[in-house]
Amino acid sequence: MAVLGIESTAHTFGIGIVKDGKILSNVKKVYTTEIGGIIPTEAAKHHFQNKNEIYFEALTNAKIKDEDIDAIAFSQGPGLTPCLMEGMRFAKELADKLKKPIVPVNHCISHLEVGKITGAKDPVMLYCSGANTQIIAYASEKYRIFGETLDIGVGNFIDVFARYARIGFPGGPVIQKLAEEADKKNYIELPYKVKGMDVAFSGILTNLKQKLESKKYSLKDLAYSLQETVFAMLVETAERALAHTGKKELLLGGGVACNKRLQEMCKIMCEEREEKVKLFVPDNSLLTDNGAMIAYLGEIMFLKGIKFSYKDADKLDIMPRQRTDDVKVKWK
Ligand code: ATP
Ligand code: FE2
Repeated sequence: MAVLGIESTAHTFGIGIVKDGKILSNVKKVYTTEIGGIIPTEAAKHHFQNKNEIYFEALTNAKIKDEDIDAIAFSQGPGLTPCLMEGMRFAKELADKLKKPIVPVNHCISHLEVGKITGAKDPVMLYCSGANTQIIAYASEKYRIFGETLDIGVGNFIDVFARYARIGFPGGPVIQKLAEEADKKNYIELPYKVKGMDVAFSGILTNLKQKLESKKYSLKDLAYSLQETVFAMLVETAERALAHTGKKELLLGGGVACNKRLQEMCKIMCEEREEKVKLFVPDNSLLTDNGAMIAYLGEIMFLKGIKFSYKDADKLDIMPRQRTDDVKVKWK
């Protein structure tokens, strides 16, 4: 049993191959910009131009021939329409060529499911990527969103501030490095926006921009204070979801979860809880967008009979606004 997965929701075009729950290959190429944000049609063009190369590299790395692929999974949503379209078109093209079924996969849920490779069984997931920030856990046939951002995703928040400070895109890794160099005594108070299990970042962004403009604070101190403040918000909401659900595992997902300080703060919270919680952190290659997670969930769904014949491909469409809790989890 081998499944090929295609990821194309935003800036990353990735193809992964999974066989019997093991990742055989995970190849990706990321569309980046020097200045300004992601232009969806340009990112889609990037995906179109790179798809064949990534496909052949994924097959080569997996040491597998295309005829040994049993199904093609793709990211159906949520995401940017032109980018999703490229992924779906390629999935349909491959399925038709290989005469194999297609499995449509929800991107956010695949972030969670692939985390199970690390051993998590029934976790609360803190999913923090560019576009998304959600606290998710499974309850009666659905992955429920216990809390989420009320405005922008935490990664976009960091990226926008970084762009404003002219330190390039993606901003997360640079902010992390600057924060590490800051003097911990110089913490600057920032707005702290938690409502129940929801968070908000746009007010903090405005505040940070003003502080940077004022030239009274160093970028290092602002980066440090940004991390301490918004990660505390994320850890607080994750902890509340753990207390609410009674679950004993916390799983991290999404590109921002690559951040070492966020990982450390989550670890401290998990250890300090009276009833210990186990923390699971997948490898960076699985935290950021990738094709392997799509293949991984694709295989699970395929084995439960959730698939479309290549002959019915025209019944399948992308779902740019699909929400995590729209998906009926029929594979558990
Ligand atoms: P999604 O479609 O799930 O919202 P995405 O397309 O935004 O995901 P990801 O690859 O999951 O992309 O995450 C990218 C984000 O991760 C960027 O905003 C980037 O700045 C951030 N990031 C990457 N490394 C770090 C880090 N070390 N610290 C903080 N943020 C990071
Ligand atoms: Fe993602």
